Amino acid sequence: MSSAFTFARMVRVLGLAIPCMSVFFSGCDFGLEEYPASLTYPMRSDPIVVQTPKEFPWDTFAPGQLEGHIAGLKKLEGGQTLDPNELSSKDRNELEKVLLKFFGTPSQPKVKFPEDTNADKAVAALHLDDKSLARGSILYRRHCMHCHGVSGDGRGPTGPWVNPTPRDYRQGYFKFISTKTSVNDRKPRRDDLHRILDRGIEGTSMPSFVLLDEAQKDDLVSYIIHLSLRGETEYQTMSPLVNKAGIGDYTVTEKAEQLGKLYLEAWAESNKESIEPEAYPYPDTKEALQASIRRGYQEFTNAQGAASCIGCHTDFGRQVPFRYDFWGTLVRPANLTAGVYRGGRRPLDLYNRIRGGIRPSNMPGADLKVDKVNKIDQYWDVVNFVQALPYPQMLPKDITDAIYGKRSVESKDAK
Ligand code: HEC
Ligand code: HEC
Repeated sequence: MSSAFTFARMVRVLGLAIPCMSVFFSGCDFGLEEYPASLTYPMRSDPIVVQTPKEFPWDTFAPGQLEGHIAGLKKLEGGQTLDPNELSSKDRNELEKVLLKFFGTPSQPKVKFPEDTNADKAVAALHLDDKSLARGSILYRRHCMHCHGVSGDGRGPTGPWVNPTPRDYRQGYFKFISTKTSVNDRKPRRDDLHRILDRGIEGTSMPSFVLLDEAQKDDLVSYIIHLSLRGETEYQTMSPLVNKAGIGDYTVTEKAEQLGKLYLEAWAESNKESIEPEAYPYPDTKEALQASIRRGYQEFTNAQGAASCIGCHTDFGRQVPFRYDFWGTLVRPANLTAGVYRGGRRPLDLYNRIRGGIRPSNMPGADLKVDKVNKIDQYWDVVNFVQALPYPQMLPKDITDAIYGKRSVESKDAK
């Protein structure tokens, strides 16, 4: 037992008024408490974004203004939201009861559908067993809840004050995934979520949790999947009841069960296969790299081409207004001259972004060509260009001049 533990304990036994600083007193266990047993997940009451406005604003909203911003979307042209508070109390009670039955509570989370061996298999494959979820819930409460919220709504106490806002898992959308593009309703792979925890999200307030044990990160990943499944089942069951489209002959309970299983299946399918890039086709020479960067540049800047990157990343992202993402919050097509990549900076991360897109941010996956005969792979060409873009001296000279204006320092390598 560490001396820090003994000291922290002594402090408590003696009743000294020193706050528990778990960073220094590793044995200090205040932070590792579970949620109170009586706590249930709060039902969704914030507006559901159905359609985002047509106009793109240049400015983002002020800190603390998340709720007001989303509630105000319906006043802008094209904006459409639903108010969960319009749900009848009968439907609300039934939905609350069935969510409790399938997904449990914060201190006893579960994913359990009645008598369905297929669902049980998916639960096992995705590590959503009760024990993993219970451990994940304790860790989540300590490390994540203050940003991502008890229900995973991205509205913990810190949430409204950071920009971009923490991920609201309840829509079932995630950004930085490597899931095969042919999967319907692509969810993240466990590996993707694990990597996010290792690395954090560069350029945002999402920290790295690389110092947690691998097993702890695995439990957190399970718990995020649980929150996302619960939230998506809740909001998709609720939406047609609020907008009066109705749920046909189903009861609320039946509809929630049907949808919950559908999303569970999507998570299971997404975890089967990842995007498989073709082998890198070029020899490891400066000439081959420069030629590939040049082709990537042409692809990137071709407004009519399959990629049409420049259509959104105007001036390589230096001069672009914000856009609405699927949550109704604001995101800007990245400034690619800055070299900051939220989803990771490995060539493979960029490959996955370009090929798979960033769906909730409305960035489509590019449909590029792989010519095996002539050994030209346009995906790797665009990756090579994007990687060189922030470093003018890595680009062919005429391309640097076109992007950055005439440069004063000559590069030894670039031609
Ligand atoms: C200080 C606030 C903060 C804390 C604490 C925090 N996050 Fe985040 N998290 C964010 C922000 C902000 C984003 C969204 C970044 C973006 O949209 O690019 C995010 C995004 C995510 C995503 C979405 C990744 C994707 O591909 O869409 C996951 C998963 C996630 N966080 C998990 C966690 C977990 C698990 C913890 C605790 C171990 C945690 N976060 C703690 C702020 C935080
Ligand atoms: C319809 C608009 C749109 C198109 C077309 C588009 N992007 Fe994006 N791109 C975005 C938006 C929006 C973001 C910011 C996403 C975020 O942070 O949530 C982004 C982000 C990125 C990022 C940063 C990823 C990260 O990890 O932070 C890269 C790299 C990128 N785009 C490359 C490309 C390339 C290459 C193309 C062409 C093949 C392209 N984009 C086409 C809208 C677009």
